Amino acid sequence: MTATPDQGKITGAAGDQGEIVGIAPAPDGPVSIIDYNERIPNNVGLATDRKLQRALQAWQPKFLDWWASLGPSVPTRDVYLRTAIAVGRDGWANFARVPMEQYRWGIFLSERNPDRTVGFGRHLGEPAWQEVPGEYRADLRRLLVVQGDTEPASVEQQRHLGMTAPSLYDMRNLFQVNVEEGRHLWAMVYLLHAYFGRDGRDEAEQLLQRNSGDADKPRILGAFNEETTDWLSFFMFTYFTDRDGKYQLGTLKESGFDPLARTCEFMLREEAHHMFVGTTGVQRTVERTAALMAAHDTDDLWDYGGIPLPVIQKYLNFQFSVSLDLFGSETSSNVASYYTAGLKGRWMETRRKDDHLLADVTREIPVVTGGAITTRTVPMLTALNLDLRNEYMQDCARGIRRWNRELEQAGLPHRLTLPHEGFNRKVGAFAGHWVSPSGELLEQSGWERRSAGWLPTPEDRARVAALMTPHYEPGEFASWIAPPGVGINDLPVEYDYVRF
Ligand SMILES: [Fe+2]
Ligand SMILES: [Fe+2]
Repeated sequence: MTATPDQGKITGAAGDQGEIVGIAPAPDGPVSIIDYNERIPNNVGLATDRKLQRALQAWQPKFLDWWASLGPSVPTRDVYLRTAIAVGRDGWANFARVPMEQYRWGIFLSERNPDRTVGFGRHLGEPAWQEVPGEYRADLRRLLVVQGDTEPASVEQQRHLGMTAPSLYDMRNLFQVNVEEGRHLWAMVYLLHAYFGRDGRDEAEQLLQRNSGDADKPRILGAFNEETTDWLSFFMFTYFTDRDGKYQLGTLKESGFDPLARTCEFMLREEAHHMFVGTTGVQRTVERTAALMAAHDTDDLWDYGGIPLPVIQKYLNFQFSVSLDLFGSETSSNVASYYTAGLKGRWMETRRKDDHLLADVTREIPVVTGGAITTRTVPMLTALNLDLRNEYMQDCARGIRRWNRELEQAGLPHRLTLPHEGFNRKVGAFAGHWVSPSGELLEQSGWERRSAGWLPTPEDRARVAALMTPHYEPGEFASWIAPPGVGINDLPVEYDYVRF
């Protein structure tokens, strides 16, 4: 390791909603420095629990094997990466050049608040649980496994992207996301080992045995079995699909099971950078597209090395719709019982001004009946997936507004839009129906006739792929994307963030 600039310093351009390069916001609690002399860096006192320490040390080489075989496939000497070194307010991360296989993946939980109580459901106001209540053991384990499964899945999906990185800056951001998703796997594996005994250890093994796209042992959720084939997909993925992860973590951060809540709180801090990569990645793509459109007075940009705006819109339509499917059906009795039990709350649960029980509350949910999209009233408790999805959709819309500013500034009348929630859905009320991006209910034949204008065609994907040529010289950028305004951690954009 050579350069070690200021620890966790905030850099110039803050993104929207506090999305900041390098260090994420949400400060709280005292600083507890993580012990790096241990084989597994941690702030959970691993050294005092020999049995748990041995179990995790036995899992560690399996994780490293997984990283070597299914992690980033481009061989590199070192990468300028952020590593967590504390969980407190400031200076929680250190930046340095690190050979990726020597990255210090560790176990970090936010500081414990000894006064914390359960914030919703039938245990409202009781002290938060430091151990798993026996009656909720199976449900909690399942929640951990489903969350844990997505973390290594995205690393597997993005494995080959380094081969076509549009710049060293972007490549470094990809690898930063990858190592942190690896750390998120560690976070879930720690909870499984520490609180779920033998079953938990078995589940931790399975998390490395299922693999994205594997015919026999696929990842649990559909969207995590598709390969991320190009960088536009990657940016859309980090914007829309990672953001689903942010919202799922947000519900688990409210959990009555305190170690889970603290784990997710710290993961969310790292997650802000992943959101930043997606938001700015798409923004820089649109910026380039807008400049080329304005300069050449056409939206057929292939010959100019840009991605046509309609193709960007199609990628957006695709990733948004498959990400909505990750929220599950609009109604779910499981989610109602998770809530009532205090396992999984709502987004920003503690800031909501209601009784946090929701027993007598109802809400409208969308349904498709008699050839029309209408609504039906259901108990609020069963509609919490929809509640979360709506929060998520509002957040997604902010990015669209930001990207449209690039078009506006280039003097173009074109705009990107978020498709209707019923468009291209495989899960929930709209599954089996044919809804256009503007929300029209169509016949299947009519939808199919027009779908090539709404979703990326194999030809679109091939033409995007053809633009994905690697740019490995410091400060060099591919033709289809604008350089960022600032580099990482106050370094210049031209810095050699990755060395071979
Ligand atoms: Fe993650
Ligand atoms: Fe993430």
